[in-house]
Amino acid sequence: MKPNVVRVGHAVLYVKDLEASRRFYVDLLGFNVVHETENALYLRGYEEREWSLKLEVHPEPGLKHLAYKVAGEAELDRVIDLAKAHGLPWREEEERGRPRMVRIQDPFGFPVAFYYRAEKHERLLQAYHRYRGPGIQRLDHFNVLTPDVQGTYQFYAEAFDFRLTEYTEDDEGRMWAAWLHRKGNVHDLALTNGTGPRLHHIAFWLPDLHAIIRAADILAAAMQTDRIERGPGRHGISNAMFVYLRDPDGHRVELYTSDYLTVDPDLEPIRWSLNDPRRQTLWGHQTPKSWFLEGSRVEGFEGGFVALKDSPLKGLPQHVT
Ligand SMILES: [Fe+2]
Repeated sequence: MKPNVVRVGHAVLYVKDLEASRRFYVDLLGFNVVHETENALYLRGYEEREWSLKLEVHPEPGLKHLAYKVAGEAELDRVIDLAKAHGLPWREEEERGRPRMVRIQDPFGFPVAFYYRAEKHERLLQAYHRYRGPGIQRLDHFNVLTPDVQGTYQFYAEAFDFRLTEYTEDDEGRMWAAWLHRKGNVHDLALTNGTGPRLHHIAFWLPDLHAIIRAADILAAAMQTDRIERGPGRHGISNAMFVYLRDPDGHRVELYTSDYLTVDPDLEPIRWSLNDPRRQTLWGHQTPKSWFLEGSRVEGFEGGFVALKDSPLKGLPQHVT
């Protein structure tokens, strides 16, 4: 049986200066601090009972791993079986309050972990008097850069039963980007064509568009306009409202809201033509070059960063996803 993945769980990002990260994530964006040590911050949105973002001090910025929550302890044994069947490196690890994680390196070089048990924290959803910043609710999805979107999609569909909701294709039927879900909205994982493996962004859910505007206002008022990379706007793909930010280490963070329900087992994926200007921003706005070209390096199984491969699919920057 395939491991039953419930949803995106957490990301661990390497950062160079924890105080600079704290000013961005905590002081301006209002993330709730679950725990802190000399070398790490554990953060969550106001809806979350478990931390969803760990920032860990490291000499080089990068991604330590992306993690998914599974439906029970037995699912972790299924992840191990799957890793063995595919010949993937795996080991058991732990993180704070997560006593058992199974970490693999997927066939495309991404470090991915799975866990079930997680320490719960005080419910904050209705503690409105404690909200700060734009009121970040929860982790929503990961987006990664891969030179083989089709192959990566097939692996996650076959191994973990990720389901396709939307995709971009060129006139020759080649897949340039894919949006895959487990939890019932447009995606837990998006795949973007490009030099990889790299992390493109992690995204957090906000309650509404006003909260996204408020995030932009907060950054502007704090003279941090260089942290706003793209938007606010509405995506064609996913129909969501968004703004993309860059943290002090260059990690890209999307604030995201208002996509749609995808739980029907017979949901028909939406195909977007690579030439349709509405797919990235429904209103047709151009996307900055940095958004296509820049991403975070990912850690290899034995440490260090995974070597990069260029994508065989080349195009103008506005035609990349
Ligand atoms: Fe996204």
